[in-house]
Amino acid sequence: MATLGIDFGTSNSAVATLVNGKIKRIQVEPDNDTLPTSVFFDFDDQIVQFGSVANQNLLNGSDGRYMRALKSVLGTGLMAERRMIIGKKFDFYDIISEFLSALKSRAEQSEGVVFDHAISGRPVYFHSDDAARNAKAEQDLRECYRRAGFKSVEFMFEPEAAALAAHASSRGDGGLGLIVDIGGGTSDYCLFETGKNSKINIVASHGVRLGGTNFDKVLNLEYFMPLLGRGAQIKKMMSEGVVTAPNSIFHDLATWEKIPFCYTPELKNTVRDLQRQAFEPELFKRLGRLIADRAGHELAFMAERAKITANQTEHGAAKIDLDLIDDGLYVGINQADLARIMSDLCQVIDRSVQDTLDNAGCKPEQVSEVIYVGGSSQMHMVQAVLRGIFPHAKFRLSGVFTAVVDGLALAIDNS
Ligand SMILES: Nc1ncnc2c1ncn2[C@@H]1O[C@H](COP(=O)(O)OP(=O)(O)OP(=O)(O)O)[C@@H](O)[C@H]1O
Ligand SMILES: [Mg+2]
Repeated sequence: MATLGIDFGTSNSAVATLVNGKIKRIQVEPDNDTLPTSVFFDFDDQIVQFGSVANQNLLNGSDGRYMRALKSVLGTGLMAERRMIIGKKFDFYDIISEFLSALKSRAEQSEGVVFDHAISGRPVYFHSDDAARNAKAEQDLRECYRRAGFKSVEFMFEPEAAALAAHASSRGDGGLGLIVDIGGGTSDYCLFETGKNSKINIVASHGVRLGGTNFDKVLNLEYFMPLLGRGAQIKKMMSEGVVTAPNSIFHDLATWEKIPFCYTPELKNTVRDLQRQAFEPELFKRLGRLIADRAGHELAFMAERAKITANQTEHGAAKIDLDLIDDGLYVGINQADLARIMSDLCQVIDRSVQDTLDNAGCKPEQVSEVIYVGGSSQMHMVQAVLRGIFPHAKFRLSGVFTAVVDGLALAIDNS
């Protein structure tokens, strides 16, 4: 029975297997070891597209329904909600299993074998503070694998898989290593010992539901949404006085997995009322236009790009054009601004790393190497947090987007 290692990520996914004891990543998209975890229901052709093709369809303005951050829905009440799309009823189990099934069949085509068994990564906590939801999220993902046609699935903590891969690529010095995997949806840690033989010993794994999509959301809320009415004052409808525009609209529109549900007639009516009652009606006119154009995902992509650009801009401010909101509109964001608005998120990362050490009864000075995995570990402010905790450790980036899937492939040996 052939086994496929699957890193089903919030933002990106990858698959790999083990051939003659060696990792073989399978390119499920041309010339790429990973693909965006995105789905596009194409209304014209009545088909479902995945990965980069799904993203292209969204950005080209094709008529359809786009979805991203599907992993964040696992364990929530949204999973079982059924919606009519391209003439069929889909719930989130179906949508995620469509994506997993595409990975399965592309891998099978590439390798010429049937992958009946999956070894899948999972975050240590899908939901940090809710044990029942966390357990339900794994059950949900198991059900998605079943519907995708896998006969069985085994789960492994993503940072433990990354530890296997990091150790295989570079043997440590016998001290404690710490994987810091900050992805799109969660931050995951694994403290491990490298023994005398080739094996590693897992000392502690921990995590928190916080990732790059949270950074995107904060940037979107702080920089973009005020231009669409967030925080604006509105005259009350039935009485004297003023209130602040309801924040929930802006939160939903800045949350990847909630954006597809923002384009309702009710919300359009609410925005029309807000425009009528606002002191600055042009803000809500823009909001109404954005919703009518179903451009929430595009704005979220702009927030993600702005985050990455500002993170890479060492001096001065990155100029972010916001023609999508209004002609000629732009904002400037620099790294210091970014660190300021994200300081609460960085504190959560700080706390969760300290908790990982506490759970293991370890002191920071016992950690000789910190290994960064996951796209968001490239954020300077995240690395500043880690340098603060481990002033004497060595730091390295290791297969930022592929360490987890590599480790899952290595784990096939024992599965
Ligand atoms: N150069 C960069 N600088 C900062 N952030 C980046 C960079 N490149 C990618 N990211 C962010 O990394 C995140 C994706 O990372 P990754 O692919 O590791 O996540 P994932 O594995 O899909 O998510 P998870 O493991 O949390 O389910 C996105 O939020 C993306 O914006
Ligand atoms: Mg990941």
